[in-house]
Amino acid sequence: MKVLSIVGARPQFVKLAPLSKEISSKFNEVIVHTGQHFDEEMSQFFFNDLGIPQPKYNLEISGGHHGEQTGRMLKAIEEVLYLEKPDLVIVFGDTNSTLAGALAATKIKLRILHIEAGLRSFNKFMPEETNRIVTDHVSDYLFAPTLTAMKNLRREGLKDKAIFTGDIMVDSLEMAINVADSNKILESLDLSLNDYYLCTLHRPYNVDDEKIIIRILKGLGKLSKTVIFPIHPRTKTIIKNNNVRLSSNIKVINPVGYIDFCILQANSLKIITDSGGIQKEAYLLKKPCITLRSETEWVETIKSGWNLLLNPKEVLDISVLIENFQPKKKYCQIFGQNVAKRMFNEIVRIFS
Ligand code: UD1
Ligand code: UDP
Repeated sequence: MKVLSIVGARPQFVKLAPLSKEISSKFNEVIVHTGQHFDEEMSQFFFNDLGIPQPKYNLEISGGHHGEQTGRMLKAIEEVLYLEKPDLVIVFGDTNSTLAGALAATKIKLRILHIEAGLRSFNKFMPEETNRIVTDHVSDYLFAPTLTAMKNLRREGLKDKAIFTGDIMVDSLEMAINVADSNKILESLDLSLNDYYLCTLHRPYNVDDEKIIIRILKGLGKLSKTVIFPIHPRTKTIIKNNNVRLSSNIKVINPVGYIDFCILQANSLKIITDSGGIQKEAYLLKKPCITLRSETEWVETIKSGWNLLLNPKEVLDISVLIENFQPKKKYCQIFGQNVAKRMFNEIVRIFS
């Protein structure tokens, strides 16, 4: 049996790693990289850190408007699918690469598995929301990471295709923690344990609006400790183009590889982010997380009291709420365990 996995953006490499290990143990695995993320630190670092086999195809498609990017991917992925004729196509998460992969596969009637199905922000202005809804509705098998995701799928009439598996990033994080054998990254940045904030930002509604990004950075500048800020290329461009001046406590660095980033998370005081994956990792690492958004798909992390939603469009000075946030410290296993194995067993069951 041939399984073809489609990835393209940083979080998808993280999600692919543990599943790829399982799949390649029994099936013929083909990896397709759309090229959506292409800088070494946004792509190759993850293949190196997590031991992911090199993609058989790199379509080198990135940039451009959403529709155009998705359209170019759709065409190129279709060609690969005709060539490879896989028995199963796997897509991950909610990026344009996910949508293009799912659309290309459904058009030629291939079977599709969506990993991280059922998430909803109920915010149609996020491109990811459209990507996930369409992907879920054209997929044949939906692996849901949380019980809320299962509920969302039931509400949309997709119950029969849905399986609660837990979240694959539980296994990715475990892989990274197991191989992380030094805290060199902390030494190189001159950081002490639990004595710095870690921040990432890349959502268009935070970084594409000059007024909002400046407001966020002003808030970070008022924090009493160093803020380590591995900067996403989208955010870097905006800050550069607008000549934004940063306060001296904000340390901008290039994006780091997955293992280093997990070490930075695990030893931080608090994490400030608008990333989906990082909200989960913060929870799994029992780190207080402040999410700079008006809503989140990961509602369990909010209910548990470890994650605080803070909308920079509404709060003029985010620094006070960040400094004062104390999590309730109630912790339960909302994302499951041994998820890759569980997913693999489901795939074997479906195809036997
Ligand atoms: C994309 C996903 C988003 C995901 C994020 C993860 C969509 C709609 N968005 O957003 O869901 O959370 O990835 O990080 O699919 N760029 C570089 N080098 C790179 C990667 C990107 O310079 O290695 C540039 C691109 O050329 C583009 C900009 O950064 O100009 C944004 O990249 P893009 O992939 O379009 O969107 P992201 O903001 O990364
Ligand atoms: N990440 C990383 N290095 C960085 C920043 C993030 O390895 O400098 C990892 C992080 O641990 C998580 C993933 O990238 O697993 C999240 O990606 P991102 O925030 O870009 O996307 P999202 O999850 O929001 O879609």
